Amino acid sequence: MKKPWSGRFRQKTAKVVERFTESVSFDHRLWRYDIKGSIAHARMLARKGIISRSDEEKIVKGLKEIAQEIEEGRFQWRQELEDVHMNIESALIERIGPTGGKLHTARSRNDQIALDLRLYLREEIKNIINLIKKLQRQLLNISEKHLETIMPGYTHLQRAQPVTLGHHMLAYVEMFQRDRERLSDSIKRVNTLPLGACAIAGTTLPIDRAYLAKLLGFDSISENSMDAVSDRDFILEFLSTSAIIMMHLSRLAEELILWTTVEFSFVELPDAFTTGSSIMPQKKNPDVLELIRGKTGRVYGALVSLLTTMKALPLTYNRDMQEDKEPLFDTVDTLKECLEILIQMLPKVKFNTERMIKTAPEGFSLATDLAEYLVKKGMPFRESHETVGKIVRYAMDKGVNLDSLSLDELQRFSSKIEEDVYGYIELRRAVSARISRGGTSPAEIKRQIKRWKKLL
Ligand code: ARG
Repeated sequence: MKKPWSGRFRQKTAKVVERFTESVSFDHRLWRYDIKGSIAHARMLARKGIISRSDEEKIVKGLKEIAQEIEEGRFQWRQELEDVHMNIESALIERIGPTGGKLHTARSRNDQIALDLRLYLREEIKNIINLIKKLQRQLLNISEKHLETIMPGYTHLQRAQPVTLGHHMLAYVEMFQRDRERLSDSIKRVNTLPLGACAIAGTTLPIDRAYLAKLLGFDSISENSMDAVSDRDFILEFLSTSAIIMMHLSRLAEELILWTTVEFSFVELPDAFTTGSSIMPQKKNPDVLELIRGKTGRVYGALVSLLTTMKALPLTYNRDMQEDKEPLFDTVDTLKECLEILIQMLPKVKFNTERMIKTAPEGFSLATDLAEYLVKKGMPFRESHETVGKIVRYAMDKGVNLDSLSLDELQRFSSKIEEDVYGYIELRRAVSARISRGGTSPAEIKRQIKRWKKLL
């Protein structure tokens, strides 16, 4: 097959070079956007009288037929034609003759690939935003069901203060909300038209970029042709946001993994979402969650890979930039898969609420409440902290929890302690009393759930 750029060459391209430089094996998945962009380009060329109306119709018809062929799996992708752009253009010329050769007027593969990537990413970002929203809804459902389920809260993975499972799950809803916002905000930087930049410097032909932007649904037009063909920051921004999303997913996965251990026993995973061991018959492993945690690595890798590729590239287009696609595609696929499987799995996760409540007061997790009780009785916090520390030490030595100490024993540490102290170190009352905004009390969580229900 003759290459569209073969004019100035005397030798045939080496086979090994064709294999090394091709991108069609992975960029063919951009075909839909490539054809959409080409149809808009043909329409614009005709509108400006650069090609005739009948040429426009021939080109558009040919492109639509090619789209049909690709859709049905009948299209033959050729490695010697390098990439998705040259494959489609060559097929067009083969189909409609020399008229097909007019499509690439006032266009280069440099602005064409930037266009395809922007169209692709714009759509995928919207898909991912929707998936995150679905995940948030699942987390919200759990929160609503477990508004009053008390469990241990941790810092340093040591028992800290009791919280509710509802509170814990809403923490993730907040994180994913910021992820969604980051994605939504990035759309305006993705959704800017590069087409018309041509190879680097624009064109002498009277093109109409505003018309192209309108046809293709772009909100803005790149104002510098050199920038338009040479930056990939819109992909890097997406990869950075994706890395943060994966970090959040990985933390959620890790917590569920921990909670399924016999040591925690807070959670039971659905059989359908776990796997067994080839040797140990008793095993039920959280592989799905482990893979979500593990795949975080490849998304971070994608970000670092493209950052490194782009670093120190002289303006404008360099072939290095062809290396942007695989990390991008892999990230989109990975993210969507992880989100989809979690959305299906979460509603089937069983929480062992009895065990959570039972363990919540262990480890002197109400010590802070006791210290705040003393503050309410007029003691400076630093002093109450010290006093309660001593009480904890005493109870530890005795091998009992705070509420098992008699009033007499407690008063040995401070005369400010009175009979009402037991109300403050009772689990449910202590949790309900944390009514500060954003705190863990069911009343506050109820308010937050109401807010989220409106938002989601
Ligand atoms: N396949 C190329 C890429 O992915 C398209 C742009 C090629 N431009 C060029 N001047 N060789 O980056």
